[in-house]
Amino acid sequence: MSVHNEIKRVTTHTLQWMKSQNEKISMLTAYDFSMAKIFDDAGIDILLVGDSASNVMAGHETTLPITLEQMIYHAQSVVRAVHRCLVVVDLPFGSYQGNSKEALNSAIRIMKEAGAHAIKLEGGEEVADSIKRIISAGVPVMGHLGLTPQSIYKFGTYAVRAKAEEEAEQLVKNALVLEEAGCFAIVLEKIPAKLGQKVAESVKIPVIGIGAGGQVDGQVLVMHDMLGITKDFSPRFLRRYADLYDAIKGATVNYIEDVKSNDFPNEKEQY
Ligand code: KIV
Repeated sequence: MSVHNEIKRVTTHTLQWMKSQNEKISMLTAYDFSMAKIFDDAGIDILLVGDSASNVMAGHETTLPITLEQMIYHAQSVVRAVHRCLVVVDLPFGSYQGNSKEALNSAIRIMKEAGAHAIKLEGGEEVADSIKRIISAGVPVMGHLGLTPQSIYKFGTYAVRAKAEEEAEQLVKNALVLEEAGCFAIVLEKIPAKLGQKVAESVKIPVIGIGAGGQVDGQVLVMHDMLGITKDFSPRFLRRYADLYDAIKGATVNYIEDVKSNDFPNEKEQY
Protein backbone atom coordinates (compact mmCIF):
# COMPACT_ATOMS: atom_id res chain seq x y z
CA MET A 1 0.00 0.00 0.00
CA SER A 2 1.20 3.50 -0.75
CA VAL A 3 2.29 5.74 2.11
CA HIS A 4 0.23 8.38 0.34
CA ASN A 5 -2.99 7.13 1.95
CA GLU A 6 -1.60 6.37 5.38
CA ILE A 7 0.10 9.51 6.63
CA LYS A 8 -1.56 12.44 8.33
CA ARG A 9 1.13 15.10 7.97
CA VAL A 10 4.28 14.79 5.89
CA THR A 11 7.44 15.52 7.88
CA THR A 12 11.12 15.26 7.05
CA HIS A 13 11.02 11.87 8.81
CA THR A 14 8.22 10.70 6.53
CA LEU A 15 10.37 11.56 3.51
CA GLN A 16 13.31 9.60 4.92
CA TRP A 17 10.99 6.66 5.54
CA MET A 18 9.60 6.92 2.00
CA LYS A 19 13.13 6.63 0.60
CA SER A 20 13.73 3.53 2.72
CA GLN A 21 10.49 2.02 1.35
CA ASN A 22 11.24 3.00 -2.27
CA GLU A 23 8.11 5.15 -2.19
CA LYS A 24 8.65 8.00 -4.64
CA ILE A 25 8.20 11.54 -3.32
CA SER A 26 5.96 13.97 -5.22
CA MET A 27 6.74 17.68 -5.09
CA LEU A 28 5.38 20.74 -6.92
CA THR A 29 5.90 24.44 -6.59
CA ALA A 30 3.09 26.65 -5.29
CA TYR A 31 2.89 30.36 -4.62
CA ASP A 32 -0.70 31.11 -3.61
CA PHE A 33 -3.51 29.85 -1.38
CA SER A 34 -5.94 28.53 -4.01
CA MET A 35 -3.49 26.38 -5.98
CA ALA A 36 -1.77 25.15 -2.81
CA LYS A 37 -5.14 23.97 -1.49
CA ILE A 38 -5.83 21.96 -4.66
CA PHE A 39 -2.37 20.35 -4.61
CA ASP A 40 -2.65 19.50 -0.91
CA ASP A 41 -6.14 18.05 -1.38
CA ALA A 42 -4.75 15.96 -4.26
CA GLY A 43 -2.17 14.46 -1.88
CA ILE A 44 1.11 16.09 -2.91
CA ASP A 45 3.93 15.26 -0.48
CA ILE A 46 5.90 18.53 -0.64
CA LEU A 47 5.01 22.02 -1.82
CA LEU A 48 7.96 24.23 -2.63
CA VAL A 49 7.45 27.97 -2.48
CA GLY A 50 10.17 28.37 -5.07
CA ASP A 51 11.99 31.53 -5.97
CA SER A 52 10.74 30.63 -9.47
CA ALA A 53 7.91 32.91 -8.26
CA SER A 54 10.23 35.61 -9.58
CA ASN A 55 9.68 34.19 -13.10
CA VAL A 56 6.18 32.75 -13.14
CA MET A 57 4.41 35.10 -10.73
CA ALA A 58 6.30 38.38 -11.19
CA GLY A 59 7.48 38.01 -14.80
CA HIS A 60 11.20 38.54 -14.20
CA GLU A 61 13.69 36.86 -16.51
CA THR A 62 15.64 35.27 -13.63
CA THR A 63 15.08 34.27 -9.99
CA LEU A 64 17.47 36.94 -8.75
CA PRO A 65 15.14 39.94 -8.18
CA ILE A 66 12.65 38.35 -5.75
CA THR A 67 13.03 39.60 -2.18
CA LEU A 68 12.78 37.86 1.19
CA GLU A 69 9.60 39.87 1.94
CA GLN A 70 8.00 38.70 -1.30
CA MET A 71 8.95 35.07 -0.58
CA ILE A 72 7.42 35.38 2.88
CA TYR A 73 4.20 36.76 1.36
CA HIS A 74 3.92 33.80 -1.05
CA ALA A 75 4.83 31.33 1.70
CA GLN A 76 2.19 32.68 4.09
CA SER A 77 -0.50 32.10 1.46
CA VAL A 78 0.64 28.53 0.81
CA VAL A 79 0.99 27.60 4.49
CA ARG A 80 -2.56 28.83 5.17
CA ALA A 81 -3.87 26.40 2.53
CA VAL A 82 -2.31 23.09 3.49
CA HIS A 83 -3.16 20.38 6.00
CA ARG A 84 -1.00 17.48 4.94
CA CYS A 85 2.05 18.33 2.86
CA LEU A 86 5.43 19.67 3.92
CA VAL A 87 5.98 23.31 2.89
CA VAL A 88 9.55 24.18 1.91
CA VAL A 89 10.47 27.78 1.10
CA ASP A 90 13.41 29.00 -0.98
CA LEU A 91 15.84 31.45 0.57
CA PRO A 92 16.05 34.05 -2.21
CA PHE A 93 19.24 35.31 -3.82
CA GLY A 94 21.08 37.75 -1.55
CA SER A 95 19.42 36.59 1.65
CA TYR A 96 22.01 33.98 2.67
CA GLN A 97 25.21 34.20 0.65
CA GLY A 98 26.79 36.94 2.82
CA ASN A 99 27.52 34.83 5.89
CA SER A 100 25.96 32.16 8.09
CA LYS A 101 24.40 34.73 10.45
CA GLU A 102 22.58 36.39 7.56
CA ALA A 103 21.47 32.94 6.35
CA LEU A 104 20.17 32.03 9.82
CA ASN A 105 18.29 35.34 10.16
CA SER A 106 16.62 34.85 6.77
CA ALA A 107 15.66 31.26 7.60
CA ILE A 108 14.22 32.34 10.95
CA ARG A 109 12.13 35.07 9.29
CA ILE A 110 10.66 32.51 6.88
CA MET A 111 9.84 30.05 9.67
CA LYS A 112 8.45 32.71 12.04
CA GLU A 113 6.59 35.01 9.65
CA ALA A 114 5.33 32.44 7.15
CA GLY A 115 4.97 29.34 9.35
CA ALA A 116 6.99 27.30 6.85
CA HIS A 117 8.19 23.80 7.71
CA ALA A 118 11.65 23.96 6.09
CA ILE A 119 13.85 26.10 3.86
CA LYS A 120 15.82 25.38 0.69
CA LEU A 121 19.01 27.02 -0.49
CA GLU A 122 21.33 26.56 -3.45
CA GLY A 123 24.95 25.45 -3.41
CA GLY A 124 27.41 22.92 -2.01
CA GLU A 125 30.42 23.26 0.27
CA GLU A 126 30.34 27.08 0.06
CA VAL A 127 27.04 27.11 1.99
CA ALA A 128 27.79 24.19 4.36
CA ASP A 129 28.49 26.43 7.37
CA SER A 130 25.25 28.32 6.84
CA ILE A 131 23.33 25.05 6.56
CA LYS A 132 24.81 23.78 9.84
CA ARG A 133 23.98 27.03 11.61
CA ILE A 134 20.38 27.04 10.33
CA ILE A 135 19.88 23.39 11.31
CA SER A 136 21.38 24.02 14.75
CA ALA A 137 18.55 26.53 15.29
CA GLY A 138 16.04 23.74 14.57
CA VAL A 139 15.20 24.60 10.97
CA PRO A 140 15.25 21.72 8.44
CA VAL A 141 17.22 22.50 5.27
CA MET A 142 16.83 21.13 1.74
CA GLY A 143 19.86 21.50 -0.55
CA HIS A 144 19.86 22.25 -4.29
CA LEU A 145 22.64 21.19 -6.70
CA GLY A 146 23.18 20.92 -10.45
CA LEU A 147 21.62 23.80 -12.33
CA THR A 148 21.19 26.38 -9.60
CA PRO A 149 19.27 29.28 -11.20
CA GLN A 150 20.56 31.88 -8.71
CA SER A 151 23.99 31.37 -10.34
CA ILE A 152 22.73 31.76 -13.90
CA TYR A 153 25.09 34.63 -14.65
CA LYS A 154 28.03 32.46 -13.59
CA PHE A 155 26.86 29.54 -15.77
CA GLY A 156 25.79 31.80 -18.66
CA THR A 157 23.18 29.28 -19.83
CA TYR A 158 20.35 27.02 -18.60
CA ALA A 159 21.97 23.99 -20.33
CA VAL A 160 22.35 20.58 -18.64
CA ARG A 161 25.00 20.71 -15.89
CA ALA A 162 27.72 18.24 -14.85
CA LYS A 163 28.11 16.44 -18.18
CA ALA A 164 31.88 16.64 -17.80
CA GLU A 165 33.50 14.19 -15.39
CA GLU A 166 35.13 16.82 -13.20
CA GLU A 167 31.89 18.71 -12.58
CA ALA A 168 30.04 15.40 -12.01
CA GLU A 169 32.59 14.34 -9.38
CA GLN A 170 32.34 17.73 -7.69
CA LEU A 171 28.55 17.41 -7.63
CA VAL A 172 28.69 14.00 -5.90
CA LYS A 173 31.15 15.44 -3.38
CA ASN A 174 28.84 18.37 -2.74
CA ALA A 175 25.88 16.04 -2.22
CA LEU A 176 27.91 14.23 0.47
CA VAL A 177 28.82 17.59 2.03
CA LEU A 178 25.13 18.57 2.17
CA GLU A 179 24.21 15.24 3.75
CA GLU A 180 27.04 15.60 6.28
CA ALA A 181 25.92 19.18 7.05
CA GLY A 182 22.49 17.79 7.98
CA CYS A 183 20.22 18.50 4.98
CA PHE A 184 17.06 16.36 5.05
CA ALA A 185 16.86 16.19 1.23
CA ILE A 186 18.52 17.48 -1.93
CA VAL A 187 17.01 18.83 -5.15
CA LEU A 188 19.03 17.97 -8.26
CA GLU A 189 18.27 20.11 -11.29
CA LYS A 190 19.02 19.36 -14.93
CA ILE A 191 21.85 16.85 -14.82
CA PRO A 192 22.40 13.53 -16.65
CA ALA A 193 20.11 10.73 -15.42
CA LYS A 194 23.06 8.43 -14.61
CA LEU A 195 24.54 11.08 -12.34
CA GLY A 196 21.15 11.59 -10.67
CA GLN A 197 21.06 7.87 -9.92
CA LYS A 198 24.64 7.90 -8.62
CA VAL A 199 23.86 10.75 -6.22
CA ALA A 200 20.64 9.06 -5.00
CA GLU A 201 22.65 5.89 -4.32
CA SER A 202 25.52 7.77 -2.66
CA VAL A 203 23.49 9.59 0.00
CA LYS A 204 20.97 8.25 2.52
CA ILE A 205 18.74 11.34 2.36
CA PRO A 206 16.05 11.67 -0.34
CA VAL A 207 17.12 13.14 -3.68
CA ILE A 208 14.39 14.89 -5.63
CA GLY A 209 14.99 15.55 -9.30
CA ILE A 210 13.89 18.08 -11.87
CA GLY A 211 15.45 16.91 -15.10
CA ALA A 212 17.66 14.47 -13.18
CA GLY A 213 16.17 11.21 -14.52
CA GLY A 214 13.92 8.54 -13.09
CA GLN A 215 16.33 6.83 -10.68
CA VAL A 216 16.13 9.46 -7.94
CA ASP A 217 13.79 9.39 -4.93
CA GLY A 218 11.18 11.85 -6.15
CA GLN A 219 10.29 14.45 -8.75
CA VAL A 220 9.51 18.17 -8.66
CA LEU A 221 8.06 20.41 -11.37
CA VAL A 222 7.13 24.07 -11.48
CA MET A 223 3.31 24.17 -11.35
CA HIS A 224 2.94 26.53 -14.32
CA ASP A 225 4.95 24.12 -16.50
CA MET A 226 3.20 20.97 -15.26
CA LEU A 227 -0.23 22.53 -15.84
CA GLY A 228 0.62 23.95 -19.27
CA ILE A 229 0.21 27.59 -18.25
CA THR A 230 3.67 28.42 -19.62
CA LYS A 231 3.65 27.73 -23.39
CA ASP A 232 7.11 28.85 -24.37
CA PHE A 233 9.10 26.56 -22.04
CA SER A 234 9.54 22.99 -23.28
CA PRO A 235 12.65 21.33 -21.87
CA ARG A 236 12.94 17.59 -22.46
CA PHE A 237 12.29 16.78 -18.79
CA LEU A 238 8.89 18.49 -18.72
CA ARG A 239 5.67 16.47 -18.92
CA ARG A 240 2.54 18.61 -19.17
CA TYR A 241 -0.51 17.24 -17.36
CA ALA A 242 -2.95 19.90 -18.59
CA ASP A 243 -3.18 22.64 -21.15
CA LEU A 244 -4.40 25.44 -18.92
CA TYR A 245 -3.08 28.24 -21.13
CA ASP A 246 -5.53 27.28 -23.89
CA ALA A 247 -8.32 26.39 -21.44
CA ILE A 248 -8.07 29.73 -19.61
CA LYS A 249 -7.63 31.74 -22.80
CA GLY A 250 -10.64 29.99 -24.40
CA ALA A 251 -12.79 30.65 -21.33
CA THR A 252 -11.71 34.30 -21.33
CA VAL A 253 -12.53 34.73 -25.03
CA ASN A 254 -16.00 33.22 -24.38
CA TYR A 255 -16.57 35.54 -21.42
CA ILE A 256 -15.57 38.62 -23.42
CA GLU A 257 -17.92 37.59 -26.24
CA ASP A 258 -20.80 37.04 -23.80
CA VAL A 259 -20.26 40.43 -22.13
CA LYS A 260 -20.01 42.27 -25.47
CA SER A 261 -23.09 40.56 -26.88
CA ASN A 262 -25.07 41.18 -23.68
CA ASP A 263 -25.57 37.43 -23.30
CA PHE A 264 -24.07 37.60 -19.79
CA PRO A 265 -25.71 38.03 -17.36
CA ASN A 266 -28.95 36.37 -18.43
CA GLU A 267 -32.31 36.54 -16.60
CA LYS A 268 -31.33 33.86 -14.06
CA GLU A 269 -27.98 35.48 -13.31
CA GLN A 270 -29.38 38.72 -11.92
CA TYR A 271 -31.41 39.89 -8.91
O1 KIV B 1 12.35 27.74 -7.47
C1 KIV B 1 12.00 26.64 -7.92
O2 KIV B 1 10.94 26.49 -8.52
C2 KIV B 1 12.91 25.52 -7.74
C3 KIV B 1 12.56 24.24 -8.43
C4 KIV B 1 12.94 24.34 -9.86
C5 KIV B 1 13.15 23.06 -7.79
O3 KIV B 1 13.90 25.63 -7.09
